[in-house]
Amino acid sequence: MNILLLGSGGREHALAWKFVQSPLCDQLFIAPGNAGTAQCGTNVPLRVDGDFEAMEQFCRENEIHLVVVGPEDPLVKGVYDYFEAAHAANPFTSGWLGVIGPSKYAAQLEGSKAFAKAFMERHNIPTASYKEFTDENFDEGRDYLMNHALPVVLKADGLAAGKGVIICNNHLEAVAEFDMMIHQHKFGDAGKKVVIEEFLNGIEVSVFVLTDGKNYCILPEAKDYKRIGEGDTGLNTGGMGAVSPVPFADDVFMQKVEERIIQPTINGFHQEGLVYKGFVFIGLIKVNNEPYVIEYNCRMGDPETEVVMPRLKNDLVEILSATAKGEVGDVKIEQDPRFAVTMVAVSGGYPGDYIKGYEITGLDQTSADSMIFHAGTKAENEAVLSNGGRVLAITSFGNTVDESVARSKQVLEGIRFMKMYYRSDIGYEFMTTN
Ligand code: AMP
Ligand code: GLY
Repeated sequence: MNILLLGSGGREHALAWKFVQSPLCDQLFIAPGNAGTAQCGTNVPLRVDGDFEAMEQFCRENEIHLVVVGPEDPLVKGVYDYFEAAHAANPFTSGWLGVIGPSKYAAQLEGSKAFAKAFMERHNIPTASYKEFTDENFDEGRDYLMNHALPVVLKADGLAAGKGVIICNNHLEAVAEFDMMIHQHKFGDAGKKVVIEEFLNGIEVSVFVLTDGKNYCILPEAKDYKRIGEGDTGLNTGGMGAVSPVPFADDVFMQKVEERIIQPTINGFHQEGLVYKGFVFIGLIKVNNEPYVIEYNCRMGDPETEVVMPRLKNDLVEILSATAKGEVGDVKIEQDPRFAVTMVAVSGGYPGDYIKGYEITGLDQTSADSMIFHAGTKAENEAVLSNGGRVLAITSFGNTVDESVARSKQVLEGIRFMKMYYRSDIGYEFMTTN
């Protein structure tokens, strides 16, 4: 089978690494990829931000059977529907399986917070109570905010590169933020509509489901570390590390997640006719042992994929084929019981301004228990250069979180690039020794 994988981060390197372990994978192309994905397959210079015609042409010329989408952007822009229509008009190569992902309509679960909240409300899926506002009912929104318990959460409805959620501890600050979103267009069109919701106090865990729109299977869960600083301080990032399995997501809790959240979500897709053949990333918060949904994403997480894929024992090509064919209910997921921890090395200054283009050394280390996934890197004249904020994700296995962290740190200590930074406290709350 020939596969086209869209994206260029650590998530895509982990997916590519997993694909090439499958005997079913013939050719793997990654668009645009990074220096790590180039070790797994062929990087191709396609734009993934909406030039679907070029992707279609590439798929026809290279007899691609399966398109797998890493980031949300192409999904929210309708890459699934584009390929379905192209195939109906002029079929792709024989054995074509399609795009792994939701339809454009279903991708609103990630693309619109208001859409996701209304979906959860219709299906009685536990989530924070909320109301949505626009310029039309701004005054009502201000009154709602002034009378809301603190802290209060404001969310720009649309995609805002992970920055659209603001947690306010006082009413005047909340009203000022609300005004900036609606009237000063702080998040552009994404903030034309604002969801105001109750603050939930608890611990977060991400659950990953693969669905064909009717059936599902559950992948290993993970916890990510979003803040730049140790002890969960400082600015939010795309993610500085992740741990899987998550010790507090025990069998009793996961049973509740499956019954109260996963089943009603997938049944909701089926009942409402939402076309969805792909990953559902459910961001959860555990409050007094009960799970609530914080958000849906219609793709895998990054850096969560860098711990989920190593722990997944199934053949990824096989389970994605089953997803495309509507047979994901037959899949039995097998997980490596060990802990996997990934630690992300970033460019100094990230998530603010940083410099790209520094040479990275120490990438040739080998160890049975560790994997070096590339995120923002590029190959140039035999060298590997930094090419983004998040540069590498080092994943290691261990029998405890401590052991996994120690192994990833050992690899990181052998890697050098100018102004490299990483959080050394990933998994701190799950350490058995201090
Ligand atoms: P999101 O962009 O929806 O992932 O939100 C970003 C982060 O904001 C989440 O990972 C949570 O840490 C936090 N957050 C979002 N909604 C809530 C809420 N209702 N209560 C508490 N924290 C929240
Ligand atoms: N690590 C969070 C995300 O991928 O959205």
